[in-house]
Amino acid sequence: MTHASEPSPLGHNTFAGFPSTSAIPLWSEFRVEVSGTPVRGRGYVTSLVQIDQATRSAARTVLRFDPHAILSGSLGPDTVIDRMARAISEHLGHQVSRLTWLVSPYHHYSWEESMPERTTLSCHFEFAAAHRLNDPTLSEEANLALFGKCNRINGHGHNYRLEVAIRRPNGGSFGMSDFERVVAESVVDRFDHKHLNVDCPEFAALNPTVEHIAAVCFDLLEGPLRGHGVELIRVTVWETSKTSATVEVRVPAAG
Ligand code: NI
Repeated sequence: MTHASEPSPLGHNTFAGFPSTSAIPLWSEFRVEVSGTPVRGRGYVTSLVQIDQATRSAARTVLRFDPHAILSGSLGPDTVIDRMARAISEHLGHQVSRLTWLVSPYHHYSWEESMPERTTLSCHFEFAAAHRLNDPTLSEEANLALFGKCNRINGHGHNYRLEVAIRRPNGGSFGMSDFERVVAESVVDRFDHKHLNVDCPEFAALNPTVEHIAAVCFDLLEGPLRGHGVELIRVTVWETSKTSATVEVRVPAAG
């Protein structure tokens, strides 16, 4: 705790960023993951203070080396996150296993020790649509009991949010504008401002629950992305801020 008469040190409020600034800052967040066996007696893999210091030191050397190149995109995010992961590991003296770089609350990159030659890019998208939940094999009463208000005959609407995660080779030509175009053409334009049960053949015989919507979105995106040499690894669909479903590629267990 700091006494009111004492000046706060720079960066005292970690929610306001580091170092402190009165200018309008660029927002960026790094999530650093390390793995290993906790040090005997101390109970941690490596100390949080050291992770903080290593991340800030790495940001000073990597992000401030040429910020104009980063902002203009001439120094690609794949290169920046790879340099950050290596610099943090070096400063920390412990290998970073995964580094996530949130460049906005809706858009992040992820680097993994096991495949540093590929970077994951994850982005949020949205569409508005109506649906009605109904199982034609059940009676009207059973459907009402099962789905409640969601079973009402003329349907109801949601602002669906979609998070799509892809893995791509570093330095490849498939950029954010290509990603946005594929998602728009494959999913958003197909479902936006439609009644899923009535207007969309994908749900003519498939109850449009959030689980089914996530699975259909995954299937619609996988082929077009693969055609660009990009791997689709995860799709999450939020029906409300509290209800979501995720479909993801699982790595087969070794052996
Ligand atoms: Ni609904």
